[in-house]
Parts: sequence; C-alpha cells; structure tokens
Amino acid sequence: MDYKENILRYEDYCRLRESAAWLNFSKEQTEKALNNSLYTVVAVEDQQTVGMGRLIGDGLYYIIVDVVVHPAFQGMGIGSKIVDMMIAYVDRETPCGGRSSIQLTAEKGKEAFYEKRGFKRIPHEFCGSGMRKVIRK
Ligand SMILES: CC(C)(COP(=O)(O)OP(=O)(O)OC[C@H]1O[C@@H](n2cnc3c(N)ncnc32)[C@H](O)[C@@H]1OP(=O)(O)O)[C@@H](O)C(=O)NCCC(=O)NCCS
Repeated sequence: MDYKENILRYEDYCRLRESAAWLNFSKEQTEKALNNSLYTVVAVEDQQTVGMGRLIGDGLYYIIVDVVVHPAFQGMGIGSKIVDMMIAYVDRETPCGGRSSIQLTAEKGKEAFYEKRGFKRIPHEFCGSGMRKVIRK
C-alpha cells in the first residue's frame, strides 16, 4: 500500500464517498473544496485509490473530513495510517510553545476508531456539544 500526499482527485473523491453511501456535492463545489484543502492523503493499491482523508483549517484550528476506506480494504490499518498522517502534518505545523486544535465529527458508531487515535468525545468536562448548521439551496 502506498500513501500519497496532496494528489486527491475529484473522481476518486466522489467514488470513495459513494462507497461509504455518502452523498456527493456538485463538481464545482467539490473542486473548489479540494483545491482549498490544506493537506490530503490517499492510500493507493495497484494504482487504485482505496482510501482518503482531507484536512482543512487555518493553522490554529484544523478539521479532519472525508476519511473513507473502501469497504474491500477496511480493517487493514489504512484508516489509522491516513488519520495519523494528518495528525503528523498538524504536529509539524505547530510551533514550539504553540498549540493547535484538531476537530472532527465522527459518523455515528465510528467514535472508537478516533478514540484510538487520541481524540476525545465531546461534550466533556471542559467542552459543550459539537454543533452544526447545514445550508441547502
Ligand atoms: C471508519 C474507517 C475510516 C476505518 O478505517 P479502517 O481502515 O477500516 O480502520 P483501521 O483498520 O485503521 O482500524 C483501526 C482501529 O479502529 C478500529 N475500528 C475501525 N472501524 C471501527 C468502527 N466502525 N468502530 C469502532 N472501531 C473501529 C479497528 O478495530 C482498529 O482497532 P485496532 O487498532 O485495535 O485493531 C472505515 O471503516 C470507513 O471508511 N468507513 C466508512 C466511512 C466512514 O464512516 N468514515 C469515518 C467518517 S467519521
């Protein structure tokens, strides 16, 4: 398995989201989002992209999105490696004496996967619930 950085393509992005039964966005919106990513990772086997993860953010706050491993390749450590590479990116970018916050929304039932990579469920004693608002047009 090869892990490659910053080569996530529109076609692979859509195909992998479909493999997770996630709805896609329009091509225009998606290509803009991919271009605006800070960092992306893909897992490639036999020239086929079988996993991906995408990091967005501003240097203080980072959000991990679009972590998907194709069902045929799940349970082989690929998702872990992708998330670890995104965490390592933030670690490299965080200056000595500084701090960064990596946030994400786990799919229902997937919290334990992220807990294994050091993420804490919210709410907890210092944090309220994560919240979101979706805009549809
Ligand atoms: C969630 C997902 C990314 C995990 O990727 P993966 O490559 O199968 O995971 P890994 O093989 O790296 O598993 C790492 C660890 O997490 C655990 N894990 C994996 N999926 C899990 C789940 N759904 N619930 C709880 N634990 C899970 C594994 O058992 C493994 O534990 P171990 O290290 O003790 O053996 C993958 O199942 C997937 O793409 N699912 C569909 C899309 C999705 O839900 N993405 C997450 C968005 S929040």
